Amino acid sequence: MTKRKEMQLALQMISGYGAEFSAWRMPGTDPAAYTNTDSYVERAKLAEKGKFQMIFIADTPALTVDLGPQTPMFPMDPMLALMAVARETEHIGLVATHSTTFNQPYNIARQFKALDVISHGRVGWNAVTSSTPAAAANFGIQVASRKERYAMAHESIQIVQALWGSWEPDAWTLDTEGGQFADMEKIQPINLQGHYYASRGPLPIPPSEQGQPVLFQAGGGAEGLELAGRYASGVYANPYDIASAREHRQALRQSAARFGRNPDDIKMYAGFMFSIGATEEEGLERRRQLMSFNPEEIPSRVSYLGSMVGLRLSMNSIDIDQPLPGDLLDRAYANPQDPRSSRALQLLKQGLSVRDVLAHGVINYHPVVAGTAVQVADFLEEWFLAGATDGFSVVPDIAYDGVADFVEQVVPILQERGLFHKEYEGKTLRENMGIPYQYGSAETK
Ligand SMILES: Cc1cc2nc3c(=O)[nH]c(=O)nc-3n(C[C@H](O)[C@H](O)[C@H](O)COP(=O)(O)O)c2cc1C
Repeated sequence: MTKRKEMQLALQMISGYGAEFSAWRMPGTDPAAYTNTDSYVERAKLAEKGKFQMIFIADTPALTVDLGPQTPMFPMDPMLALMAVARETEHIGLVATHSTTFNQPYNIARQFKALDVISHGRVGWNAVTSSTPAAAANFGIQVASRKERYAMAHESIQIVQALWGSWEPDAWTLDTEGGQFADMEKIQPINLQGHYYASRGPLPIPPSEQGQPVLFQAGGGAEGLELAGRYASGVYANPYDIASAREHRQALRQSAARFGRNPDDIKMYAGFMFSIGATEEEGLERRRQLMSFNPEEIPSRVSYLGSMVGLRLSMNSIDIDQPLPGDLLDRAYANPQDPRSSRALQLLKQGLSVRDVLAHGVINYHPVVAGTAVQVADFLEEWFLAGATDGFSVVPDIAYDGVADFVEQVVPILQERGLFHKEYEGKTLRENMGIPYQYGSAETK
């Protein structure tokens, strides 16, 4: 496989609204988008127009927010949303999260491979161990230790991949003359028995155009690195700055090499959020407006921002529409425990008001660029050329118009700069990610 010089893009679709939890109240947004599958289809089609390699639906099977002011974080069901998208798109990859803790491997193998066949080889499975107590409770269990969750994940992935390979590539003879539908010699049980999971197989589903779904992973620690290095072709990661992103990417590549794989066959996608305006001020205004829907949230954000820069800040002690007073700024320092702190401090020192520093998204869980399309492209270019990541998992602030803004304004700049492809390389997700064909378990590929 030749080394790629272009970044890859995943559009992260969570709920139907966007990254910011008040996005459902923005003018133009369908406030009921949660149940509107067309909204997923429309955005996926836009992303396909922009040649995104994939859409990615994160998922935690639980209600994790207060539905008073907020929308659900996750879709009604990612696989059903992707099924609708599969029927209306041709090239874009379709990746969904399914937990290795809450799902039987046979169900995972069956659903993902069926969708892979239906979509002609465009599917990926983001295998996560899940550590949300509310989700565990929905399955009548408690969150297990990390060691145990990852032991389950290894078993789950091995069984799923073995099931995927249990219908051999040339088993489907479809011999109407001779009356042989398939060669049963080539569709065999897997008989895998683990400590947590077991499956007999076979899985009665033929290969797709890419063989089987692509494996993705998102998770932390040494266990996460090992799982990724051993099985994953894509990793969704949450680095906050170039240095930590680069370190993470190198660790993933080394982990893949330890398992005898080509490091280029594992791609990292760094989470990234954006708010695009015709000017930086307009981008920021979008975020100020989003913040204004929930004024009751602002005091806790102000105090959180204070903790990032070593200050006790409250709505009573400061005017958030003014820059921080000089005596406070003199005492401020970037909290070394929080990689987002240096940017927060930098913006405060530039003399921005506290409200505007918050509007820049300094306490969001991904880096945020609020500004022009050129500023967004500059950010992506800087990270990519620094070797910090292979691609980005981009999350618009407001899905309703944010996806179109990115596709129409940022993608052409990236293409112009030679940083992003202008056409899909092939028809399958594997081809478009530049990773090898795989059928069956990782060990037998
Ligand atoms: C970028 C990223 C995306 C994730 N996406 C999901 C998700 O969609 N659903 C989920 O249940 N967990 C998700 N996780 C959580 C992991 O599965 C894991 O539970 C979490 O990282 C904490 O456990 P660990 O550090 O022991 O892996 C994600 C983690 C990361 C880093």
